[in-house]
Amino acid sequence: MSDDPNLLYDNFPFPELHPDRLCTIGTLFGMTPAPATACRVLELGCGQGGNLTSLAMVLPESQFLGIDLSEKAIALGQADVATLGLQNIELRACNILDLPEDVGLFDYILVHGVYSWVPREVQQAIFKILRKHLAPQGIGYVSYNALPGWHARGMLRELLLEHVPKDAPALERIASARRLLSFLSNYVLTGKNTAGAYLKRELDLVNGLSDLYLYHEHLVDHNEALYFKEFTRRASEEDLQYLGESDFYMMMPDRFGPEAAQALESISHDLIEFEQYMDCLCTRFFRRTLLCHKEVELQRSLSGRRLHEMWVRSRLRPESSAPDVASHAREMFKGTHGDPIAVTDPLLKLALFRLASRPVAGLRFLSLFSDEPDERSEAHLGSAILRLYGLDHVQLGIWRRPFTDQPGPKPLTSPLVRLQADRGQTWVTNLENDMVPIDRFDACMLRRMDGEHTHEQILSGIVEDLHAGRVQISQNGVAIEDRQVIGELMWNKLPTLIGSCLLMA
Ligand SMILES: C[S@@+](CC[C@H](N)C(=O)[O-])C[C@H]1O[C@@H](n2cnc3c(N)ncnc32)[C@H](O)[C@@H]1O
Repeated sequence: MSDDPNLLYDNFPFPELHPDRLCTIGTLFGMTPAPATACRVLELGCGQGGNLTSLAMVLPESQFLGIDLSEKAIALGQADVATLGLQNIELRACNILDLPEDVGLFDYILVHGVYSWVPREVQQAIFKILRKHLAPQGIGYVSYNALPGWHARGMLRELLLEHVPKDAPALERIASARRLLSFLSNYVLTGKNTAGAYLKRELDLVNGLSDLYLYHEHLVDHNEALYFKEFTRRASEEDLQYLGESDFYMMMPDRFGPEAAQALESISHDLIEFEQYMDCLCTRFFRRTLLCHKEVELQRSLSGRRLHEMWVRSRLRPESSAPDVASHAREMFKGTHGDPIAVTDPLLKLALFRLASRPVAGLRFLSLFSDEPDERSEAHLGSAILRLYGLDHVQLGIWRRPFTDQPGPKPLTSPLVRLQADRGQTWVTNLENDMVPIDRFDACMLRRMDGEHTHEQILSGIVEDLHAGRVQISQNGVAIEDRQVIGELMWNKLPTLIGSCLLMA
C-alpha cells in the first residue's frame, strides 16, 4: 500500500525544536551559533508549518523556510501565515530530494518526525542537506525511533500490520486497526504477564491519541528504528558530528543514580558508546539528536562560565517563605515533579530564591548574585546551575523571552493564540513553542487578550458570549451566570495562563 498523501499529520509546535534551545546547547559545548533572534531556520517535512509559524511570529527578525511533500499541508499552512500577516516565513511544497541549491545556508535545520518514516534515499538526502546547507556554526536537529527501546513499541506496530488489509485505503486501514486495538485492550492478559502489561500500556497510549498518530506511527510503510551508534555512523559518513540531545538532561547520567556515571564510563570507549549504553539503561525509543559539522571543535567539559550571557528559569520553589540564604544551613526546594531537593550552598540558595519570584520570564544569570560576581563565583554558581539543568530542574536560554509574570491592565497574548482560541481549538501554542490545553472559558479570555481590552472589558465580553449561548460556564456542575462570580473565575484562571507562558510583556 502506498502512504496516503492526503492524510495530514497533526499540526503541532515543538519546544524541543526552538532555535534558542539549540543555540544554548551549542554554546554550552563551546560553539558560537547564531542567536534565535537573528537566524535562518529550515524545516524539512514541516507539515502544515505548526512548528515554524509560531517561531516566526515570536522571532520577527529571523527567517524561516519550511518544505513538505504534501501540497495540501503546505496550502493550509500558507493560509495561516497569510492570516497572521507574517513576512519572515515561507512554506513551500517541495520534496526533500529536490531542495534547490540556491536556498543558501541556515543556522538551524530541523527534521522532526521524518527520518524514521522515509526511505533510505531520503534519509541520505537529509544528511547531505545538513552538510551542504548548515552554516559553519549551524546546528541540525533530527529525531528518529531508537533501538533498543523501540523493539517494545514495535510489538504493537507488528500486530497491527499483520491484521489490517494491506492494499486498502488509509481510512479503512485505520478503522481495521482501531477494531484490533479495542479487541486487544479488552482481553490482553496483564498482571503477572509482564509483556502483556506493557502491551496494555501501549494500547492505552494509542487509544488516547489521534487516528493521524496511529496511521503515521504504526500503519505507514516505512518506519525504521535504529541504534544511536548506527545513526551517528551514517551522519559521520556525511562529515557531520554528534553535538548532543535537544533534551539536555537526557545526556546526563545523574538520573540513573550516583554510581551510574562511573559504571557507564568504565563500559564505554567513547561518547557514542556512553550514549548508546544510556539508551539501553532507559530502554529509550525516541531520540532528538543535534548534529554539527565535523570541523567544529566542541568543548565537551562543561564550564559554569558559559552561563555568562544566559537567562535562567527554575521549576524549584523554596519550601520556606524566608529561607536562610546567608549560611550553609539546609533549605528544601521543591520541583513540579518528584521529591524536594536539599540545598546548602548560599550562592545557589539565593539564586533559586530569586528565580522563584520570576518563574515565567526568568532572570539573567548575572543578576542572581548579590554583589558583582568575579570569575570564581561565576564558575561556582554556573556549575551548580548546570547540574540542576542536567536534572531538568532549571532551564537555560540566551533569548530574552517576551513572556511576563505580571500582565498589565490590558493583557496581551500572541495573535496565533487568539486565532487558535477563535477557531475553537482545544489547545494553543505558547511562547515557548509548546502546546497548552485550554477549555472554552480560557478561549473566551484569550481571544480578547489583544493588549486593547482591560480585564473589565474582557469580563464583559465573556458575559456577552454567555448570553449569546457561545459558552456555558459551570462550577461543580452548577451553571453560573452571575457577573461577579464569572469575574472571580477569570481572576483565578489568570495565574495558570501566566504560568503557561501565554502572556506577553
Ligand atoms: C510524520 S509527519 C511530521 C510532520 C512534522 N514535522 C511534525 O513532526 O509534526 C512527516 C512529514 O514529512 C513529510 N515528508 C515525507 N517525505 C517527504 C519528502 N520526501 N519530502 C518532503 N516532505 C516529506 C510528510 O508529508 C509529512 O508531512
